[in-house]
Amino acid sequence: MTDDLIIRYLHFVSIFILVAAVLGQHLILRGSITRALVGKAQKLDIAYAIAVVVVLATGLLQWFVVGKPADFYSSNPVFHTKLTLFLVIGLVSIYPSVYLGKNRKGAPDELVTIPKGIIWSVRVELFILFLMPLLATLMARGIGIAFVTE
Ligand code: HEM
Repeated sequence: MTDDLIIRYLHFVSIFILVAAVLGQHLILRGSITRALVGKAQKLDIAYAIAVVVVLATGLLQWFVVGKPADFYSSNPVFHTKLTLFLVIGLVSIYPSVYLGKNRKGAPDELVTIPKGIIWSVRVELFILFLMPLLATLMARGIGIAFVTE
């Protein structure tokens, strides 16, 4: 029971950090910015990566170890949609991660023009992130399972 609470708590806290990191990148990355700001966005990317690992680990623990039986989730297409979108966020984030890693070093005052694709990748991540809690609350209530058993 206590394990369950701690894992749920960590799932939420890591989601907050994930959203905060992506929102921070969204606010920083625009037009032409200094390399110092690129470095800041890259630091947020590290926080993002750590949060992704904790969200995934606590999600897997809730799926297979604590709480409801694994089948409750495995049999629900809403849950599979949530997993797929999580994967999509991960894939979309590769482009900004690689870009920020490559461009963080150099003179701090030098201006860097951020490619539109980077800005759009972060927007797409944010948009998908805001869909996830809806899917999560639906699947937690077993909504979606009926589509399979009918
Ligand atoms: C950004 C990604 C994610 C977000 C925003 C998110 C959001 C949430 C939220 C809001 C809940 C609570 C639902 C409720 O009690 O009403 C939840 C629970 C849960 N999440 Fe996630 N989640 C994410 C990723 C994942 C991943 C990757 C997995 C699986 C590997 C996962 C598995 C679960 C499970 C099994 C529960 C328990 C549902 C229940 O109480 O029955 N989540 N998630």
